[in-house]
Amino acid sequence: MQIEEIFDNLPELKTNRLILRKMTLYDAQDMYEYASDPEVTKYVIWDYHKSIDDSISFLKSIIKKYENMEVSGWGIEYKNNNKLIGTCGYVLWVPTHSLAEIAYALSRKYWGRGLMTEAVKEVIKFGFEKMNLNRIYARCMVESVGSYKVLDKAGMKFEGVLREQMFIKGAFRDMKIYSILKKEYYK
Ligand SMILES: CC(C)(COP(=O)(O)OP(=O)(O)OC[C@H]1O[C@@H](n2cnc3c(N)ncnc32)[C@H](O)[C@@H]1OP(=O)(O)O)[C@@H](O)C(=O)NCCC(=O)NCCS
Repeated sequence: MQIEEIFDNLPELKTNRLILRKMTLYDAQDMYEYASDPEVTKYVIWDYHKSIDDSISFLKSIIKKYENMEVSGWGIEYKNNNKLIGTCGYVLWVPTHSLAEIAYALSRKYWGRGLMTEAVKEVIKFGFEKMNLNRIYARCMVESVGSYKVLDKAGMKFEGVLREQMFIKGAFRDMKIYSILKKEYYK
């Protein structure tokens, strides 16, 4: 399986309440609404967006990845109002080892409704069924309770803590790592 086979045209995925689709520049305002919230970016590597230009630059970088057939994420559209409310998807894929890493972020207005669990389950399904992965993992800061609850609810297993794994927002951060294997998914 080659990265280009999937990422030359990232397919749209649907869940009960969400559409996972490619992002466009028309999503800039919706993205700015949630990405400008420091609470949303507290436990992620990127900084909150200071102006809509930051959202436009981010979207341009994603669109470039789509065009270059590189590993890239889906935008999360909420079916009820057709707004872009977050992102979810693969940030790394190593075909030689059939492994990939997931990351995600959601607008604070939509937290606590099970929406990210719904998105992550669909992304895991896509990973095993279409990308032929053997191992899918995700890392999150130990303080990010909501995030590791999502991974747990999506069927991933806690593997341990990566000590001072990343330098985020001025400090070295301990990260929890979770994973799911193909044999567990199909069991
Ligand atoms: C983490 C995040 C994706 C969770 O999305 P979500 O749609 O609210 O997640 P879900 O509703 O599917 O599940 C979250 C669970 O964690 C719980 N939770 C959330 N924040 C919590 C907190 N601070 N303390 C305890 N539990 C918390 C929720 O109650 C829910 O548990 P429940 O199903 O038992 O009620 C969202 O909060 C977010 O985008 N945060 C900012 C970005 C981020 O941190 N991304 C992760 C980087 S790895």
